[in-house]
Amino acid sequence: MAMNILFFILLTISISPYLSSALLNDASWWCEKMPNPEPCKHFMSTKPNKFGLILHKSDFRKVALELAMERALNAESHTKWLGQKCRNEREKAAWSDCLKLYESTILQLNQTLDPTTKCTDFDAQTWLSTALTNLETCRAGFVELNASDYMLPLMSNNVTKLISNTLAINNNGSTTPVESYKHGFPGWFRPGDRKLLQTAAPRANIVVAQDGSGNYRTVKAAIDAAAKRSGSGRFVIYIKRGVYRENIEIGNKMKNIMLVGDGMKYTIITGSRSVGGGSTTFNSATVIVTGSGFIARGITFRNTAGPQNHQAVALRSGSDLSVFYRCGFEGYQDTLYVHSQRQFYKECYIYGTVDFIFGNAAVVFQNCMIYGRRPMASQKITITAQGRTDSNQNTGISIQNSRIMAASDLKPVLNSFKTFLGRPWKQYSRTVFLKNYMDGLVDPAGWLEWDGNFALNTLYYGEYRNTGPGSSTSRRVKWRGYRVITNSNEASRKRARRKRCGGRKKGHTSRICKYQRAVYLGFLWDLLTPKQHVKFGRMLRRKPTKIEIKIEDKEELEEARNRTAAVNPTGATALLHHFNTSSASASASTKAQRIGLQS
Ligand SMILES: *[C@@H]1O[C@H](CO)[C@@H](O)[C@H](O)[C@H]1NC(C)=O
Ligand SMILES: *[C@@H]1O[C@H](CO)[C@@H](O)[C@H](O)[C@H]1NC(C)=O
Ligand SMILES: *[C@@H]1O[C@H](CO)[C@@H](O)[C@H](O)[C@H]1NC(C)=O
Ligand SMILES: *[C@@H]1O[C@H](CO)[C@@H](O)[C@H](O)[C@H]1NC(C)=O
Ligand SMILES: *[C@@H]1O[C@H](CO)[C@@H](O)[C@H](O)[C@H]1NC(C)=O
Ligand SMILES: *[C@@H]1O[C@H](CO)[C@@H](O)[C@H](O)[C@H]1NC(C)=O
Repeated sequence: MAMNILFFILLTISISPYLSSALLNDASWWCEKMPNPEPCKHFMSTKPNKFGLILHKSDFRKVALELAMERALNAESHTKWLGQKCRNEREKAAWSDCLKLYESTILQLNQTLDPTTKCTDFDAQTWLSTALTNLETCRAGFVELNASDYMLPLMSNNVTKLISNTLAINNNGSTTPVESYKHGFPGWFRPGDRKLLQTAAPRANIVVAQDGSGNYRTVKAAIDAAAKRSGSGRFVIYIKRGVYRENIEIGNKMKNIMLVGDGMKYTIITGSRSVGGGSTTFNSATVIVTGSGFIARGITFRNTAGPQNHQAVALRSGSDLSVFYRCGFEGYQDTLYVHSQRQFYKECYIYGTVDFIFGNAAVVFQNCMIYGRRPMASQKITITAQGRTDSNQNTGISIQNSRIMAASDLKPVLNSFKTFLGRPWKQYSRTVFLKNYMDGLVDPAGWLEWDGNFALNTLYYGEYRNTGPGSSTSRRVKWRGYRVITNSNEASRKRARRKRCGGRKKGHTSRICKYQRAVYLGFLWDLLTPKQHVKFGRMLRRKPTKIEIKIEDKEELEEARNRTAAVNPTGATALLHHFNTSSASASASTKAQRIGLQS
């Protein structure tokens, strides 16, 4: 024993003099530095020798993670056992979400601890953020179903606080990365996956078709089959056009699933669960995905519960490194639940009323169309409700190069409803709007309180170089946490560094890119041949008015018209607008006429 103490003293002193204060009780010395010292000390003291000697911050990080893991496992089995205590359906609904959420929390902690996972500080911060968000979601389920009085006290534990401690230790400044983009997608997106998105018809492992021409008639049957596959490589499910009335869940174990539709107008997955109907918000989603590496392209996710049924999610993603490309999200309150992890949305359409993009993921939206719909009387439209609960989480919503507009049902009654960019669902709510077009619906104040002064000092809301009638910041809220970003450094940490969209001939490419950006809203680009792409480039170098685009195939032309008109009745207008903002000072309407987008 004496030998041990001597060894300990020598070692400590030789490493760092200030550590000598740790002599009495090294764990509690470290615990004191945490946001939640009490539970840290409490549990450390019950197992003084379990975690060994703590000399460095990295030792303590490991110890704190192990402690959080141990307590989370304990809480999980206690929660399972509590199932028998549920007194009604509402308690049961909230409780069964919690089981899944605890399972995910343990998964996140485990992969953070796993010495064989290659993991950056940012990965770890993401997973720990998710571990914490899960537990907040578990709690929220009981509260929203008015079932918090009995079960929640029984479930009380200190796991949230212990995870919050691990977030504080892990966050040493290197956990806020500069966003990097390659070929228009995040740096973490694999080139092979990007090719899959850009191939006209990627090879499918399974085909779903309602008319029996595929392997399965329902999406659910295809997902069940995919669950039985061996390995976790990219697995492509092609869902042919049709309206699929199903609720789908792609769970933690199903990694690297890709769903490809025939276009958001044609492949639709729809459901109608809602909080009004007895679901939790969490479980109301028509499509749920948590397995990492998920990709969707050309599909609409819909919830038809309607505004009167309150929270009703069309899609919930807790899939780390998930990408949604040219997808539609249609609902009213709480349409798109960006629950947790890292997510990227490109060229998507998102419709809703209250808090219709919400959650606590690290999520970026680029080149999307965001539509406010007509809410219930006396409701206000809020586009985002970001839910960061801990200042050390690395989560937030970033909306870039998108358009904020009124949907067709809102337009005639625009003066009866106010629209805001967001409101603080949780204490450290974090949202930025960069270089978007904001139509007149956006209220001059810009942002809305959640509840009095709640979170106004601790949130972070920013706007950078937005345009359009709703973008003026002169009458915006004066909260401490709100700022107009003027420093391009501050913005660039959040903004995509625009790269050319590829190809070798630079002169042509950048013009093609411009055009590509301009036409994507009409979905025309996909219909053109590579030769026609090059032709566009050449023509854009000349006088814009001379542009004449011919689509030889009559049916293709009709389809281009249909797709544009049906996905979005103002599609042609959007195209015009995009010309203006992409600085192609062309007579857009002439162009639109020629290419058949405008009658
Ligand atoms: C939570 O931690 C406190 C110390 O901060 C301790 O007194 C309490 O017993 C712990 N609760 C549970 C359920 O372990
Ligand atoms: C943690 O991960 C390892 C390796 O994947 C696995 O063997 C172990 O069972 C996991 N532990 C828990 C508690 O999930
Ligand atoms: C919960 O209670 C509030 C207020 O009493 C009520 O407005 C709400 O509709 C209730 N929610 C559910 C799901 O019962
Ligand atoms: C903190 O930063 C240092 C240096 O950048 C790095 O070596 C270390 O792994 C980081 N993480 C933690 C948890 O200390
Ligand atoms: C375009 O829409 C019309 C009317 O809805 C329909 O009859 C026609 O088949 C569609 N054409 C194509 C190519 O989708
Ligand atoms: C775009 O340009 C056209 C033609 O010059 C013009 O009619 C239209 O109002 C412009 N739109 C915007 C949003 O500036």
